[in-house]
Amino acid sequence: MTTAVGTLPGTTAATLESADPKPIIEPRSEFDIDISGTVGKPFVDNPKMQSRNCNVFYDDKQAIFDVDLDIGKNEIIALIGPSGCGKSTYLRVFNRMNDTIPICRVTGEHTLDGQDIYAKDQDPVLLRARVGMVFQKPNPFPKSIYDNVAYGARLHGLASNRSELDDLVEASLIKAGLFSEVKDDLQKPGTGLSGGQQQRLCIARAIAVDPEVILMDEPTSALDPIATAVIEELMDDLKTNYTIAIVTHSMQQAARVSQRTAYFHLGKLVEVNDTNQVFTNPEHKLTENYITGRFG
Ligand SMILES: Nc1ncnc2c1ncn2[C@@H]1O[C@H](COP(=O)(O)OP(=O)(O)OP(=O)(O)O)[C@@H](O)[C@H]1O
Ligand SMILES: [Mg+2]
Repeated sequence: MTTAVGTLPGTTAATLESADPKPIIEPRSEFDIDISGTVGKPFVDNPKMQSRNCNVFYDDKQAIFDVDLDIGKNEIIALIGPSGCGKSTYLRVFNRMNDTIPICRVTGEHTLDGQDIYAKDQDPVLLRARVGMVFQKPNPFPKSIYDNVAYGARLHGLASNRSELDDLVEASLIKAGLFSEVKDDLQKPGTGLSGGQQQRLCIARAIAVDPEVILMDEPTSALDPIATAVIEELMDDLKTNYTIAIVTHSMQQAARVSQRTAYFHLGKLVEVNDTNQVFTNPEHKLTENYITGRFG
């Protein structure tokens, strides 16, 4: 990483030797800062999910480097960092969504309640019922609003009759803050809703199967402040029973909703600490640079 210092445009070794060395030393870039390990508290006493020696590759390009992290029971952990640093890639490790990308390869040890989620006999579909996901871009199925929410419950046999299913659909839509807007249109297509409504529909769909962990990848980036507040309140309610990992570009959101924050940089986990500490007294220079808007 230190090689970046010697590559100022238009310079050669000879001109660098004779020139004033100040310009190549003084403007220290992020590449000069050590990111060989993670500082802070990546481990917790009461983990729900654990990740050890995690490396992720897209073909021969490495996107995640040697990450160790626990996600605690009933906590909300925020994953933050500059665009392209690997937040989405790392989030997808926890429910094996990277399996759906043919060129993607994940190594390391990953557990849910101590059980290997990459074990040969682990069915990824069942894993994803326990570790649900909400994506940045809402992706409702081409089905009715009702059937979108009922989909997972039907797949996993969670309701024994139509009335139970109706109750489950309604309760999930209420929790996602969407019910009052769609209660008379449950048979209309989910894809006909606005972007923000579609996102809340996807959240309703995710929570309808009663997952233990919910992975959220920038879930409110398409929402207005009111819908965002609804989702953030929902997250706060959900953490009583569930564990949530959220990727966000909004530091205000990370500060509002999470108890721990993990800062990623160029595929490495630089710092994990209590959210309050990360935003008021970060341990690592790169975290400080990011939260003060110096880069990223
Ligand atoms: N499907 C893919 N195929 C090849 N490379 C990928 C793929 N998805 C991500 N990458 C690469 O992996 C790295 C990490 O990408 P990732 O999407 O995880 O970053 P991110 O932190 O979520 O970024 P953003 O904040 O922009 O969403 C990037 O270099 C990206 O180009
Ligand atoms: Mg992303």
